[in-house]
Amino acid sequence: MSGHGTPIPMTSQRGGPLVGTAEVPGDKSISHRALILGALAVGETVITGLLEGQDVLDTAKAMRVFGAGVTRDAGGTWRVHGVGVGGFAEPDQVIDCGNSGTGVRLIMGAMATSPVTATFTGDASLNKRPMARVTDPLARFGARAVGRSGGRLPMTIVGAEDPVPVRYAVPVPSAQVKSAVLLAGLNAPGETVVIEREATRDHTERMLAGFGATITTEDTPEGRVITLTGQPELRPQTIAVPRDPSSAAFPVCAALIVPGSDVLVPNIGLNPTRAGLFETLREMGADLAYENLREEGGEPVADLRARFSPDLKGIEVPPGRAASMIDEYPVLSVVAAFAEGPTVMRGVRELRVKESDRIAVMAAGLRAGGVEVEDGPDWWIVHGLGHGNVPGGQSCASHLDHRIAMSFLVMGMAAQAPVSVDDASPIATSFPGFEALMAGLGADIRRGS
Ligand code: S3P
Repeated sequence: MSGHGTPIPMTSQRGGPLVGTAEVPGDKSISHRALILGALAVGETVITGLLEGQDVLDTAKAMRVFGAGVTRDAGGTWRVHGVGVGGFAEPDQVIDCGNSGTGVRLIMGAMATSPVTATFTGDASLNKRPMARVTDPLARFGARAVGRSGGRLPMTIVGAEDPVPVRYAVPVPSAQVKSAVLLAGLNAPGETVVIEREATRDHTERMLAGFGATITTEDTPEGRVITLTGQPELRPQTIAVPRDPSSAAFPVCAALIVPGSDVLVPNIGLNPTRAGLFETLREMGADLAYENLREEGGEPVADLRARFSPDLKGIEVPPGRAASMIDEYPVLSVVAAFAEGPTVMRGVRELRVKESDRIAVMAAGLRAGGVEVEDGPDWWIVHGLGHGNVPGGQSCASHLDHRIAMSFLVMGMAAQAPVSVDDASPIATSFPGFEALMAGLGADIRRGS
């Protein structure tokens, strides 16, 4: 099992307004997929704007262990020499995916229909997370999995020698499960079909089409039906990774709650399957504008401008929007604390199986900071106190969860008293440079508790 380094306690407190431009890093979901599909193409894929967070670096390392050439030049351009669909070599070492559920689940899918055996592990957070949601459909292709009780890592996958295509209705709203099945379908003959009742992020489908696979998506009464024709030759691509809306969420939300703020967050990917938070914030009364809306590399992109919004109101977040903002509920719950009245979040059971149980962990930290929170298995309600009225003053545990750490640090920037987290080191998995970026905007954020 991989470990994290020394814990980094961090504290934020009220300072001046947040002003300036926030250049957030590349999209994590797209970065993983660019490396994996690059490794499955024949020839050289060139990637710019790749997120160089630990999660993605772990996926890059895994692709090397499966036989792809993966290099980075001094200017930050990545090159992946792919081995072709079905061309993965058998790893001679354990694949350590660190903190990344996306990394491990997508890679399991990508190798499950090749005649290789691989053993996967991760950190203390990842090794608690459910993998049966991926290994169940992979078994239908003919792959075998042996792991710990409860379908947890460490786990060995024996790839199918003679894979068969699969028709699979994904039982939970999960782009990772959908993507694992599609990546496995790449090396199965015939058509693999995935059906999802609720649409989740579609970067895998878009990128597979870009690499030359035959893939169709149809919205039907039973849900979204995605059909992939197996055993294509994937053509290498040049990919410019857009910036991550899930990372943009932190400077945007901080700007909304810190008086006097005006922050521009340029070049943010606004794929509709990812942009639910921004719609929700606007419904709450946020001063949040999309400037310069355009299309880049098949994904909608805009510059976001967020200004201090003193009159935020709590709302009922439509449950049908959950998949498009699933990673943003922790920071939304912080904004909700600064809004007037309750913010009701339903249909969010998946939050309980992320890097941490995000409902439990956020509820505990918000309560410790003087905010009333109710919660149930798949819902929670944050009772907002209104701008200026959030006490704060608490120390929070981040539970190896980057988004928990960043959310509480955002809270400290506007609460009456400072907020600390016991360990901010997991932030490096998705948003290296968060501390410097927020400090550069004017936040009072420092190491120590
Ligand atoms: C991701 C899918 C989501 C999300 C995760 C990234 C992806 O997880 O929470 O951060 O890149 O496919 P689920 O698939 O478990 O919903």
